Amino acid sequence: MTIIVAHYQETFLDPHHLRRAFGSYVTGITVITTWGSDGLPRGMTANSFTSVSLDPPLLLVCIGKSASSYPAFREAANFAVNLLHEAQQDISSRFASKVTDKFNSVRHGTAHTGAPVLKDCLTWFDCSVHQRIDAGDHMILIGRVHAFETRPSMPLAFYGGRYMSIDPTLRQGASPSYRMLTGYLIEHAGKILLRKDERGQWTVPIAQHRRAGQVLHLEEQRALLLRPDETFLYSVFDAGDHTPGYIVYRTRLSATSEAELESLPVSYRLFAPTEVPWDEIPVLEVRSMLRRYLVERRSGRFSVYIDSSDGGRLAMIDNTSQPWRTPDLLFQEPSETENEKDPSA
Ligand SMILES: Cc1cc2nc3c(=O)[nH]c(=O)nc-3n(C[C@H](O)[C@H](O)[C@H](O)COP(=O)(O)O)c2cc1C
Repeated sequence: MTIIVAHYQETFLDPHHLRRAFGSYVTGITVITTWGSDGLPRGMTANSFTSVSLDPPLLLVCIGKSASSYPAFREAANFAVNLLHEAQQDISSRFASKVTDKFNSVRHGTAHTGAPVLKDCLTWFDCSVHQRIDAGDHMILIGRVHAFETRPSMPLAFYGGRYMSIDPTLRQGASPSYRMLTGYLIEHAGKILLRKDERGQWTVPIAQHRRAGQVLHLEEQRALLLRPDETFLYSVFDAGDHTPGYIVYRTRLSATSEAELESLPVSYRLFAPTEVPWDEIPVLEVRSMLRRYLVERRSGRFSVYIDSSDGGRLAMIDNTSQPWRTPDLLFQEPSETENEKDPSA
């Protein structure tokens, strides 16, 4: 174990040691974005983000003067801070690099000030420049927040020069399954789509957001489009005391996504029912769910499983869906003539 103690001696304090000491502070990761004078979006990874004030709403980031996007942030009237979620290491690396097309295939848009905001991130803040402060080899950029959006994902963390995930079980009062993974059970041409995780074990594809989505993001900036009208809740379960639980939807691919399946990223594969690698699916509950699916698909009659202290329950569903209507419309009193038509009334 190395313990580094450094004292300020007039001029020299080893910058490597200082960087390591600064790095012992855990942060999230942001990508800060603005427009360059050439009209192109500019952005860089920054973990120097800090909230500053609620009234007025202020935040700050520190921008290195040697960054090639520094001139853009020095001139810009507006900028955005995009906090990354834990599945966005690739975005962090890309925006920390010197590649010229950082925004290529990174979905972005504008909100209030017109600064570019990343559409897929944990939280974005859209700011006007409130103040710039010269500070050594950095500029402190203080922004006034005009709009923001945040989602219930887990943040990407950074500590000691490495990316980290935050263990939600350490959150005081949070139950072990505080974090639920959203999985998709997708069948195509009689085969089931599975994903190999970081440990080389198979499971269902996992989405980045809990809301039953229309898009399933794969690695390498790839995505599959899903059919919301054919997406049904299929299983809700905990998978152990210290691992996240699962919310799994049964869904189908939109016709436009079928071509995507021709060249899937290496960690995704379609398995015929007889080829499912049961021994390499470590989570018992995922195995049981897949087995239930393979049985139910034969009759086309599907159920929803919800785990409970008495061993779980299956609810049968009729496989139809209808768009959400406001409760006012759903619970409108039937008219008298409709009552007469209803034999059960
Ligand atoms: C995790 C991480 C955090 C960073 N935080 C900052 C930061 O707060 N401020 C900064 O100026 N550079 C920071 N950087 C470095 C810049 O992202 C990097 O210099 C980048 O190349 C700048 O892009 P540009 O030269 O295209 O502007 C960070 C890099 C990483 C990987």
